Amino acid sequence: MEPSRRPAVSNGNSLEFEGQKLALGEEFVGEPHDLIPMLQKAQKTVGYLPEEILREIARLTGVSLAKVYGVATFYSQFRLQPIGQHSVRVCRGTACHVRGSNRILKDIQSHLHVTDGETTEDRLFTLETVACFGSCALAPVVVVDDSVCGRMNTMKIRTMLDDVRAQADEAPEEESDAQ
Ligand code: FES
Repeated sequence: MEPSRRPAVSNGNSLEFEGQKLALGEEFVGEPHDLIPMLQKAQKTVGYLPEEILREIARLTGVSLAKVYGVATFYSQFRLQPIGQHSVRVCRGTACHVRGSNRILKDIQSHLHVTDGETTEDRLFTLETVACFGSCALAPVVVVDDSVCGRMNTMKIRTMLDDVRAQADEAPEEESDAQ
């Protein structure tokens, strides 16, 4: 599911996107060799590279949008989709597969309404799959952020994800209480 976005607002040399101001036209000369540094700067500021920003970089550098897109997709350091606050990675390796990782993956997909590689609309979770975590004895394995969760089942992972969401829902109230 595509996360909701606010439209980009262009203002000559700067672009405002999702509340972040990007002044690429002021920081760079706008030569073709600025392409990768601009992509890096934009991703560092916004967190990923939406189409609006790729278009802006194409305009500023005079490089075609197709080439900008080609560079952004060639290098693994660049992301074209936003990532969530929490990563959920499901192992699809052989040991995990024979112990039901596919069922777990499908259940997470239906629970979060995302497919592999997508981020939930509230940007809380990004779901990914990996070939093997190297913890095959604990199969099936799901890694939530940096926590390796072994011998997973659909009930356990749903509970974990619901707990993370509940904590996230409580967080803004705590912040406003502190003000
Ligand atoms: S196959 Fe899943 S951890 Fe190795």
